[in-house]
Amino acid sequence: MPAIPGTKTPFWRRAPKLILRPLDYFEDHYRRYGPVFQVGEKPLSIYVADPAVIQGIFQADAAQFHIPPQSPGGGLTFLLGDQSLLLLDGARHRRHRRLLMPPFHGDRMRTYGQVIGTLTEQVMASWRPGIAFNVRAAMQEITLRVILKAVFGLGDGDRYDRLRYLLSTLLEGLGTPFSAFFIFFPRLQQDWGPMSPWGKFVRIKAEIDALIYAEIGDRRQHPQPNSSDILSLMISARDEQGEPLSDGELHDELMTLLVAGHETTASALTWALYWAHWLPDVGKRLHQELDTLGQTVDPLSYASLPYLTAVCQETLRIYPVAPTTGIRIVSQPMTVAGYEFSAGSVLFLNIYLVHHREDLYPEPNTFRPERFLERQYSPAEYLPFGGGHRSCIGSAFALMEMKLVLATILRHWQLELPEGLRHPLKPVRRGLTLAPPGNLRLMPLAQRVAQPQALPLG
Ligand code: HEM
Repeated sequence: MPAIPGTKTPFWRRAPKLILRPLDYFEDHYRRYGPVFQVGEKPLSIYVADPAVIQGIFQADAAQFHIPPQSPGGGLTFLLGDQSLLLLDGARHRRHRRLLMPPFHGDRMRTYGQVIGTLTEQVMASWRPGIAFNVRAAMQEITLRVILKAVFGLGDGDRYDRLRYLLSTLLEGLGTPFSAFFIFFPRLQQDWGPMSPWGKFVRIKAEIDALIYAEIGDRRQHPQPNSSDILSLMISARDEQGEPLSDGELHDELMTLLVAGHETTASALTWALYWAHWLPDVGKRLHQELDTLGQTVDPLSYASLPYLTAVCQETLRIYPVAPTTGIRIVSQPMTVAGYEFSAGSVLFLNIYLVHHREDLYPEPNTFRPERFLERQYSPAEYLPFGGGHRSCIGSAFALMEMKLVLATILRHWQLELPEGLRHPLKPVRRGLTLAPPGNLRLMPLAQRVAQPQALPLG
């Protein structure tokens, strides 16, 4: 069996390019070594952009892989805690997944659908013709309100206002390309007082933790059996032994859903608005499709529109928010599609590189939603949400949110990109994810239909 090609360059020498220019980093290696390549030595990391191998990995038994043991503060524990689904392994991972999945299925989605339309209208109510707004900030505001409402059922009140403010401040601080160094090099996490970058983070995080624990305490004292929010469902969920999630487990999972569930979707929405306004044909076709629905629309009817769906799919193809899946370490030697992976190999399935394969996506750097109307892609060929036993639990929620928010905005406002942008825009790093440049703005020109009612900002 041929050895996997690659380079032994140590991590500290590769890290600056991986952190600051990740797409160049991946493309250079792909050109030089092909779709499965290894980097470094101890640990040996292997990037995979071959759908046959990815399919084998998605279908393999979960016990075939593990994730790195969590060191205190290492990886993402500083943000999520060490009982987060993203950081658990083995039986505990299976247990948490089983307890967390039900709110993300079926009819529950319909409940969230109405909420998403209303919250989008709340944020749009502050837009004025001729006054440009920052697209990321607006999308982040919408997705944060949506996730707080879906997760906690919170839409107003002091605790909600404070949590909304603190979460956006915290994640904004972690959103710069340089802040990624705190994640990749945990030793930089030093509290030099309240004005130092890490000192600020620690203090905001402590306040958020206290608010989340206070909310959990209130809910335990005053259960809301008929409530459909995710926290209520998680509190009443029981595992196979009849055990509920502890306060600590609930806290870490809530933090995970708040972080994973709104930053990612905000980036995707910002891109979608960019493409819809930079490429006139895309915008025109979207409007034509939306116009077929008439004046008064149940927001959920947006979810089944084929072209709108294809625009969201293409948005997540061309610049996937997560450029790779989460880490998977091989537990026992395995052979997949002709490649031999030794125990201890660290696998990353490279979403970006798969989505840019010429054989799957001709002219991969061109934004062309039609490709999703012309052919179907397998889970190993199109994987913006990863796959297998660690696939994203919020994928259906995120896709529905993208469609509903995009449709609501396009139906209400005629928007324009400012002059002077260098197109096409390229992604920048935002923590572990990739995002559109943070300074992207859009100018409201005129409203398309009656101004949405300015609902009180909760
Ligand atoms: C456009 C939006 C989103 C994108 C692109 C995205 C992408 C991903 C990816 C690539 C993974 C890793 C999958 C793997 O390793 O195979 C993941 C995991 C995860 N996502 Fe998402 N996600 C999005 C939205 C959401 C939302 C809305 C939620 C919840 C409210 C969520 C919760 C999670 C959780 C809890 C995991 C960990 C799953 C596990 O390890 O078992 N994500 N996501």
